[in-house]
Amino acid sequence: MLYDYLIVGAGLFGSVFAYEANKRGKKCLVIDKRDHIGGNIYTENVEGINVHKYGAHIFHTNSQEIWDYVNQFAEFNRYTNSPVANYHGEIYNLPFNMNTFNKLWGVATPDEAKEKINEQRKSANITSPTNLEEQAISLVGTDIYEKLIKGYTEKQWGRSAKELPAFIIKRLPVRFTYDNNYFNDRFQGIPVGGYTGIIEQLLEGIDIQLNTDFFENRNELMDSADKIVYTGMIDQYFDYKYGELEYRSLAFKTRIEDTANFQGNAVVNYTDSETPYTRIIEHKHFEFGTQEKTVITEEYPREWKKGDEPYYPINDEKNNQIYRKYKDLADKEINIIFGGRLATYKYYDMHQVIGAALQSVKKEFD
Ligand code: FDA
Repeated sequence: MLYDYLIVGAGLFGSVFAYEANKRGKKCLVIDKRDHIGGNIYTENVEGINVHKYGAHIFHTNSQEIWDYVNQFAEFNRYTNSPVANYHGEIYNLPFNMNTFNKLWGVATPDEAKEKINEQRKSANITSPTNLEEQAISLVGTDIYEKLIKGYTEKQWGRSAKELPAFIIKRLPVRFTYDNNYFNDRFQGIPVGGYTGIIEQLLEGIDIQLNTDFFENRNELMDSADKIVYTGMIDQYFDYKYGELEYRSLAFKTRIEDTANFQGNAVVNYTDSETPYTRIIEHKHFEFGTQEKTVITEEYPREWKKGDEPYYPINDEKNNQIYRKYKDLADKEINIIFGGRLATYKYYDMHQVIGAALQSVKKEFD
């Protein structure tokens, strides 16, 4: 055997595993079907700006251990995620907090805001919500729902909120302080210079083959290593024998604008129904950029079909059942580790992927 490990996928999971295996003297080959490393956290430099090619990525974690781990590979800036919502030109702070309530109703104190929300919840008189609309109104009242949730959610799922199940929204973060920080985690930031640099460091000194699809050369690739770490789609690995798992997809339209500051914030959500995209990302603001031009990306939610980029797993009962069957098969495989968001059919934030990869490393080597 040429290699101890063949690692399918140069995303965060595959790269952390490769780094740790390499550190322990194991010889690894990392392959990816894309023409670049990094998977979905890949950033590329355009006009001196690090562009988040697969959507906005903000690192956040509560774990000191994960924070220390990732800080070995990059310096993180003080970026704090404070998105704003644009509803027909009216601007509101997110997540829903006292700034939002003040703008909506002119209220100044938490008691006034609570009273307003309770008033609206009561007059809606919804005791057992049967769909997402009723669920949202029963949690935060009509104004917040109409202006800040309805249009955005319907675009996200491509369906009316009345047709969406209530369980999609279990709770809605409502904060009765003037705090626009989206995350509650202890640590957050953006790696100075972008995310690709982190992956470059993780994969330093390790053999990499890009533009290499595992399924186009499966037997030969499998013969090249003792063990495989697989981070691609789990249903594809088993030839879709129990059917296809479903996803939501996204389309990104990126362009350079000849202005230094297009929207004044990294993330602006468009919460009306008419604007076809859900948000615009202005990448330079992640790193407090002062370049002459700017790069912006409009994000359009899309139905997913086989061959499209699978972004968000649809973890409803039907798909979860199919996944469990694949998982049973995966558990019986010897010498193959299934990891990362696609092989476990799970939405993972970056800190969770790092945690999961380190768990696999522990299981494999300790
Ligand atoms: P990832 O998909 O990155 O890597 C898998 C790799 O395997 C890919 O490069 C793929 O090309 C390759 N591959 C698949 N099949 C293959 C095959 N057959 N042959 C060869 N290669 C193959 N997280 C967070 O913490 N903060 C945030 O703000 C965001 N934002 C965000 C926005 C959007 C739009 C999405 C979709 C996701 C986020 N995330 C996030 C989540 C983050 O993107 C995620 O945690 C990691 O990218 C997952 O890393 P993986 O290695 O699991 O998958």
